[in-house]
Amino acid sequence: MGTIVESWTEWDPLRHVIVGRATDCHIPPNEPALEAKVPEDSDMRGQHGKRPQEMIDKGNELLDNFAAMLEGRGIIVDRPTPTDFSLPVTTPDFHTDSQFGCMPPRDVLLTVGKEILEATMSYRCRWFEYLCYRPLMQRYFDEDPGFRHEAAPKPRLTDADYHDNYLSEKIGVEQRLKWAAEKHFVTTEEEPLFDAADVLRFGKDLVVQHGFTTNLKGIEWLKRHFPDHRVHTVNFPGDPYPIHIDATFTPLRPGLILNNPQRRLPDDQRGLFERNGWEIVDAAQPAHNQPPALCYSSVWLSMNVLALDDKTVCVEASEVYQADQLDKLGFEVVPVDLRDAYAFGGGLHCCTADVRREGGLQDYFPKQ
Ligand code: GLY
Repeated sequence: MGTIVESWTEWDPLRHVIVGRATDCHIPPNEPALEAKVPEDSDMRGQHGKRPQEMIDKGNELLDNFAAMLEGRGIIVDRPTPTDFSLPVTTPDFHTDSQFGCMPPRDVLLTVGKEILEATMSYRCRWFEYLCYRPLMQRYFDEDPGFRHEAAPKPRLTDADYHDNYLSEKIGVEQRLKWAAEKHFVTTEEEPLFDAADVLRFGKDLVVQHGFTTNLKGIEWLKRHFPDHRVHTVNFPGDPYPIHIDATFTPLRPGLILNNPQRRLPDDQRGLFERNGWEIVDAAQPAHNQPPALCYSSVWLSMNVLALDDKTVCVEASEVYQADQLDKLGFEVVPVDLRDAYAFGGGLHCCTADVRREGGLQDYFPKQ
């Protein structure tokens, strides 16, 4: 019996991680959260059902190779147990005909110190996704007496959780950007909602994106849940589909953050970083003009990198401009072939969730 779970930052030396799987991944039927998120020109509009098996096989091959590479560097890798994603989700409040998958554990599991917190999520098709991680959570609970397994209150996800005016196929990017600047997102303030991938961990400080998948009540819930942390709300007005912070704002080591140049942190939210000597640099341009087929994410998965420690970063192998920038910033860059797995839920940060990183709780922002 010893410590299995403990991680306070995005960059301390990684010792144990969960890597997702593409197995049985589905394109879910339309629902309010998806209607707002799937880009208006996406090849996914109007489609649902199980993804093509040959794409799933390729995605799994890449995820397996990534896991093997991490193991080769001495990092323990665990994998989720997929459930049957063809099954519907029915609660007293909603019904949807199928589920999603378990490629991006980062969306579901938030590791803060010795705790792993299951996020509320805000998509109906992802309501039961935590089940894929329960075998791991049970094992950690049995083997690590210090592990805190927590779950945020399951949301009801009735229609009251979503703004009607986002439920249209033809909103247009200009209108979306205007709404994002006004902080008018698809989710309402009906009940607390957050995805774990909207949260970045900087020791005593948690930085949380307010957007489509995380509302202000969700951030308030996180503040009350982590009373010994300082929780900061940020938003990125240049993002017409603001979901998950990790293709927008990427801390790499103490004092250095990459920011998506199309989604800059507003000036009035920079004070915390400036007062404490943190540099926010524009990320390099993506190497691609388009995401891969049937992908929810944008080309900015280029900056969805995974730090193995504060000197070593995994970057998707085709993202040559991002790799070059990180090399010039002094990092050892580890190229990882993952682009053909993006469609299942994201890049290298998304498809992982921390179990343990070395290092204890530190204060990186003493000047609040
Ligand atoms: N929010 C993820 C992306 O930029 O695609």
